Amino acid sequence: MGIAIITSGGDCAGMNPAIKHFVDYCFIKGKQPYLIYDGLEGLIDGNIKKAKHSDVAGILHQGGTIIGSSRSQRFFEYEYRKKAFEHLKSHKITKLIVLGGDGSFRALKQFYDDFGIQFIGIPATIDNDIFGTEYCLGVDTALNTIRNGIDAVRDTSSSFKRACVIETMGRDSGYLALISALTSGAEVCIIPELEYDLISLGEKLKDQMVHGRKYIVCVVAEGTKQTHNILNWLENDLHIEARATILGHIQRGGNPTVYDRLMAVEFVTFAIDQILNSKINDGLVIVYKEGKFDFKTIDYINSATYSVKPTLLEMAQNMTK
Ligand code: F6P
Repeated sequence: MGIAIITSGGDCAGMNPAIKHFVDYCFIKGKQPYLIYDGLEGLIDGNIKKAKHSDVAGILHQGGTIIGSSRSQRFFEYEYRKKAFEHLKSHKITKLIVLGGDGSFRALKQFYDDFGIQFIGIPATIDNDIFGTEYCLGVDTALNTIRNGIDAVRDTSSSFKRACVIETMGRDSGYLALISALTSGAEVCIIPELEYDLISLGEKLKDQMVHGRKYIVCVVAEGTKQTHNILNWLENDLHIEARATILGHIQRGGNPTVYDRLMAVEFVTFAIDQILNSKINDGLVIVYKEGKFDFKTIDYINSATYSVKPTLLEMAQNMTK
């Protein structure tokens, strides 16, 4: 029985430590590990390699994924999934570990329904938006990168008596923006999960400026599409010079934090142990909740959308009105 690992969708820090540990731990357990390159696109094209220790030497500290990733349109079509299955069959690979988001897990579930290839999903996305798990690989590194960005922009904003608008990634989720706003002392936090009132926020900030406030930090989640509106509001209503910084893809890269390295090792260990104990039936996703690891079905993961902890949302209310 061969076990393969694949990284799919948006890459994130923590994928390389996971790939390295996958190879090392498979050898410890006497199993041959395989690497699938370039995500589902590579699987369709048969870009699969028997792993050696040397393939993963010296990668633990690197961001991204050394085996590459992709968002595959072709995998939606049966004929390409069949090609992918033939490649796995030729290598005698019967189990997969997939690092990615819920879209990747759904694709692999379809693959299981078609051809019976069992898999374990490891949540890996900076968006932290997978229902059922409190943590997805890559989130801690992304948050620390955002923190560095906000700290740096604040330095120059305060020097110039300016306001800054910092846009974070997260797709439809405001998680990254919310945690960053809370931990960076932002004055304004605009996320899809919370309504906001620019009139009352404006009055409060104007009063603070009269009493000595020299700069304003606004964190805006990309999912709200409000970055430019907030910039205009600051300049036109609050009459403070303002600049916008879209952090963009720097949030996805960079070397993984200690926490992401540790979570990578733990996620992979649990996944392989589960596979070796023959405890997977079709497709399962490892979730991390209240300090413990558990396995959930794809149906469960898809049964609701992720929602940010209400207590955290409550703490951000004063940054919205
Ligand atoms: O899902 C991860 C993510 O980085 C989102 O936060 C962002 O909206 C999207 O991917 C960007 O995708 P791409 O790298 O294809 O531009």
